[in-house]
Amino acid sequence: LCGVQLVSENRCYSHTAEMAEEAKKLAAYAAVDNHIQNNQVVGVGSGSTIVYAVDRLAERVRQEKLKIVCIPTSFQARQLILQHGLSLSDLDRHPDLDVAIDGADEVDDSLTLIKGGGGCLTQEKIVAGCAKHFIVIADYRKDSKALGQQWKKGVPVEVVPMAYVPVSRAITRRFGGEAVLRMAISKAGPVVTDNSNFILDWKFEHAQNWKEVNTAIKMIPGVVETGLFVGMAEKVYFGMEDGSVKVR
Ligand code: 5RP
Repeated sequence: LCGVQLVSENRCYSHTAEMAEEAKKLAAYAAVDNHIQNNQVVGVGSGSTIVYAVDRLAERVRQEKLKIVCIPTSFQARQLILQHGLSLSDLDRHPDLDVAIDGADEVDDSLTLIKGGGGCLTQEKIVAGCAKHFIVIADYRKDSKALGQQWKKGVPVEVVPMAYVPVSRAITRRFGGEAVLRMAISKAGPVVTDNSNFILDWKFEHAQNWKEVNTAIKMIPGVVETGLFVGMAEKVYFGMEDGSVKVR
């Protein structure tokens, strides 16, 4: 459709956006239907795709009278859980999760993820790490052969505020590219995470050994967490443009 010259750029954009929303919903519904059962403790991710998963979860809890306890990965997730009347808990009371469902910014061939587009990567990684099964939901635009091919904003790295300059220099000295402080949309100041930290977006220049890179960046003093999720995702559900769901 978007190749047709008569279609204006705006209509083209809204068509793509609509398709992506439908794809997010398809992925989210399929994941909830395939992985959620009665009496589970469920990690709830952050972002726009997870909203559909929580919609479906709430629907199933109501219809099937499921007993589900939800662990949020962010303030947004906490609000979603409460707004949907789901049971909210935390890792103090429920440190062992059955399943965590979350979105991603990019997924490569070996299920390595970039996450943290919304700045919630630290809590997302903690919650995913506590879950027996970590299931990812995404639209077709996140599906990638190699990280960096689709997501152009780089790898988010959460840092203690006083360390953002030394951490940025250490990352670029060792791995190249540039690591830029994420600013609020208003540009009035930096984005501040749920943990009161800053985010650096590291725009890397070429593919790397992501496991090694993740470990090395985590060793830099002042780094709280990276948005590289290596060896964590068990399955990824991609909602596709043609209305199907691809599972990897
Ligand atoms: C937030 C995240 C999100 O899960 C990721 O950015 C995907 O978001 P969306 O579902 O809106 O595409 O990691 O920190």
